[in-house]
Amino acid sequence: MRILVTGGAGFIGSHVVDRYLALGHEVAVVDNLVTGSRANVPAGVKLYTVDIRDAALEGVFTDFRPNVVNHHAAQANVPASVADPVYDASVNVLGGLNLLKQSAQVGVSKFIYASSGGAMYGEPDPACIPLAEDAPVRPLSPYGASKQALEAWLGVYQRTFGLEYSVVRYANVYGPRQGIREEGAVIAVFATRMAAGQPVTIDGTGQQSRDFVYVGDCADASVAALQRGAGAAVNIGTGIETTIQEIFDLLAEIAGYSRPPSYGQARQGDVQRIALNPSLASRELGWSPRMALRQGLAETYSYFQEQVGG
Ligand SMILES: NC(=O)c1ccc[n+]([C@@H]2O[C@H](COP(=O)([O-])OP(=O)(O)OC[C@H]3O[C@@H](n4cnc5c(N)ncnc54)[C@H](O)[C@@H]3O)[C@@H](O)[C@H]2O)c1
Repeated sequence: MRILVTGGAGFIGSHVVDRYLALGHEVAVVDNLVTGSRANVPAGVKLYTVDIRDAALEGVFTDFRPNVVNHHAAQANVPASVADPVYDASVNVLGGLNLLKQSAQVGVSKFIYASSGGAMYGEPDPACIPLAEDAPVRPLSPYGASKQALEAWLGVYQRTFGLEYSVVRYANVYGPRQGIREEGAVIAVFATRMAAGQPVTIDGTGQQSRDFVYVGDCADASVAALQRGAGAAVNIGTGIETTIQEIFDLLAEIAGYSRPPSYGQARQGDVQRIALNPSLASRELGWSPRMALRQGLAETYSYFQEQVGG
């Protein structure tokens, strides 16, 4: 298949590109490199350095003529969305719409959209953790709202223009190539600081929990969505809550890091607990998380250790 990966120069998108290439698909990337890096795009993959909001996007579609669009480009930073909600919506909603319009025009057969389960459900009712897809949608940030908003237009394009889609709603993704300035990159930040022998600060008490899903498992979901899950929006998570303190302790053990952490201010607007139930992804996509947390942390630590030259 000819697959256009938007945001393919970024953290998760670049792993999706690798997985599609390994399966023999023809892959191109559209990315304006605002947070992504050319170095993440393998040789032989065409990179269109284009903003998804730009009129030039039409030329990308008429040139590459994709069968499938895998949409990972986004303004993906929560505090940045609070500071500038208009920019956030312009990329995540209008940029997404521009992609849908072009996809319908060239007859794309499947549109795969990376949404955010971590940001769209807001603070869950603890009795409902791990959350299923029918949990109330009540985002706390403009980012959560803009990621969720595009899901409505996917339905419109499917019903009115016959553009088939699947939505993968990620939990907290971690793994090699994550940017340490990215939102939610707690594992990348801890690993980098431990590898450099620097002090580590935990925001808040460390008892807040998240659902950490390995980036390779997310790439597997994008592979499964090529064939399955038409019209479905599924959680891509482990269903398991892990506290930030547990992440610190596991990484410290892997890294042989003996300094105790310090504890800072809790971050405003952060949810206290969350985990996503992946049962629907199992039924719709045949997808389940495969990477055990300890192994994923070890692989992630090795990557960041190499980055800091430790
Ligand atoms: N990292 C997570 O834990 C997580 C969780 C839920 C959802 N997601 C979603 O997954 C996707 C990828 O996130 P990531 O963590 O890899 O972030 P990332 O910042 O590494 O990747 C985003 C990519 O999009 C590109 N981009 C941004 N604005 C663009 C524009 N206007 N035009 C073209 N390209 C543009 C960036 O240069 C970057 O390469 C995003 O859609 C994000 O909302 C991520």
